[in-house]
Amino acid sequence: MTSWQPGGVLLGADYNPEQWPEATLVEDVALMQQAGFTFATVGVFSWALWEPTPGDYKFERLQSILDTLHKAGIRVDLATGTASAPPWLARLYPDAMPVTRDGLRLSHGSRQTWCPSNPDFGERSLALVKELATRFGDHSAVRMWHVGNEFGCHNLMCFCDISADDFRGWLKERYSTLDALNHAWGTTFWSQRYSDWADVIPPRTTTAIPNPGAELDWRRFCSDASLRQYLAERDLLRSITPDIPITTNFMVGHAFDGLDYHQWAPHQDVISNDHYLGSHLGQPEIELALSADIIRGLAGGNPWVLMEHSTSAVNWQTVNLAKAPGQMLRDSLSHVARGADTVAFFQWRASQSGAEKYHSALVPHAGKDSRVWREVCELGKVLGKISEVEGSRTQSRVALVHNWDSLWTTDGDSTPSEHHRYMTEVSRWYAACWRAGLTVQGVAPGNSLDGFDVIIVPGLHVVTDAEIANITNAVEAGAHAVITYFSGTVDELDHIRLGGYPGGFADLLGVHFDEFAPLLPGKTAALRSASELVQLSSNASGSIWTERGRADDGTEVLAAYADGPSQGSPAMTRRSRGNGSAWYVSTSPDDASIDSLLAALSHDSGVSPTVRGLPEGVDAVRRVGEQASYLFVLNHTDQEVAVPVIGHDLITGTESTDGSPLLVLAGGVAVLREGSTS
Ligand code: GLA
Repeated sequence: MTSWQPGGVLLGADYNPEQWPEATLVEDVALMQQAGFTFATVGVFSWALWEPTPGDYKFERLQSILDTLHKAGIRVDLATGTASAPPWLARLYPDAMPVTRDGLRLSHGSRQTWCPSNPDFGERSLALVKELATRFGDHSAVRMWHVGNEFGCHNLMCFCDISADDFRGWLKERYSTLDALNHAWGTTFWSQRYSDWADVIPPRTTTAIPNPGAELDWRRFCSDASLRQYLAERDLLRSITPDIPITTNFMVGHAFDGLDYHQWAPHQDVISNDHYLGSHLGQPEIELALSADIIRGLAGGNPWVLMEHSTSAVNWQTVNLAKAPGQMLRDSLSHVARGADTVAFFQWRASQSGAEKYHSALVPHAGKDSRVWREVCELGKVLGKISEVEGSRTQSRVALVHNWDSLWTTDGDSTPSEHHRYMTEVSRWYAACWRAGLTVQGVAPGNSLDGFDVIIVPGLHVVTDAEIANITNAVEAGAHAVITYFSGTVDELDHIRLGGYPGGFADLLGVHFDEFAPLLPGKTAALRSASELVQLSSNASGSIWTERGRADDGTEVLAAYADGPSQGSPAMTRRSRGNGSAWYVSTSPDDASIDSLLAALSHDSGVSPTVRGLPEGVDAVRRVGEQASYLFVLNHTDQEVAVPVIGHDLITGTESTDGSPLLVLAGGVAVLREGSTS
């Protein structure tokens, strides 16, 4: 992975000057300089302007945009423009329009209206990329390539005949024979056995529950089909401009679950992410932190680019909340704390027309005389003041093991309870770490767990033997793992691991459950402590799920069900294993009970919070550089807080010492240089 070393923490945005008269460019650049803006993503949706009629390229405007930005010292992330094809593509290649699960062929008129398997789209898009790279690859403004945009955002799945053929090809590669496919999908049941490849189709709308094996492979295929388009563009760019780093913006967050980014990440020169707050979330700052910690995991712990977020409201939620004063700075620095070295937004100037005209921007409709613009200028100043954190790495000893297969299958059809949602469970355990002041990093189940003392494995439903061995080895070597219900239940074919639950993890955990007994919404099962180790309150309970079974000899029961369908069975267990320990939780406990278990686990592992005695609602994250370490303190509450930390605040220039704790204003942020690391 070529790292992105931007020379500071950059402020940037999608820049779409084509929406405005040409003269606006000059005004924009003056404003950019006033704000300390140094990074622009150009051309994301410009294909129809660059190639107004097939094969007739018009790049004069782009040339002048790049020249002007370069003169102003602004680094350009040049998009390949292939996310949205021009209307003529639909006329020339009607088959390139995606088809829904119900068989409806969609029309152009929005964006990303193309089928990822369509060869005509592939050809036309690569012709554009070649033209662009040949003409602008040596332009000094161009510092990064931005392939497509948010792959899979609107056209993740196309169920047309071309896609069906492509899916069959993908399956042939995966399984070689129809027998192997029939075995994988368990087609003996419900008379689904295939005797001819031609009968294999994508999981289009059907009468009853679709085949789960077909569904899972379809999700994998869809991720791979988009990845193939990315790789084709990337390879072409690399052959023409080998020295320019290449990225595409991921969407790790509450709004998207379509691509398996563990498969995508190794193909990026720099990892970038788009993140938007969810107005439906009680504490969106925790979901933001989770997204950033997963992204840093995808970047292998290295710094990454926040390609998009919003200065204030978006336009695509039911109610588009405006950010509170100061929130944009705090959100931005939450991402920087977790490894972002570039803070960019959608978009530079709020549109006057079109689908996103009510989306916030750096330059709002009101212009410079606005809260948002003043805060943008403030953000630019702050990023300038903390520029030395660039390149430092966020410190974390807690791994959150997750994968997309588990997400897709858990949230799929016909599971023990549709109220068990994968990301909800992941988020609950993540939130407990957040409350405990522990910084977490996302890890794929098969990736190295070296350096992590605590391993959190919430509901890892689909897991391979090698991945189970990886987690087991980490525990043997001294890590302390907590694994929660529905984990280990199936293998990579989505076949049940026989012999009891939690399947592949039963041996590591020393437990044996023979039945799932989920709970109706609103129902709970009382939990009682069965050991000194985890202190539960008298009203502790689990919801959503319980299990019937027992702990093996040598496994300590920490809590048991006091009532409900699994009364008497273990709800929490712990087993020493090698130099570490393995803990199991067979329900979804209330927050306080998760907190108690996590406290006991942290105590076992010797992992302590980044800052002890942190007030509630305050987040502290450390980045460690070659010269110094930096402590980010983010106050998400509406009260000023005193935090017992020592260092030099890069934002205010003040020192906090033993005798004078750091005061962080309500909603405010401090970035402390803590002293030399050498
Ligand atoms: C995505 C897209 C942008 C814009 C924003 C709006 O992130 O990449 O083009 O539509 O959403 O929030």
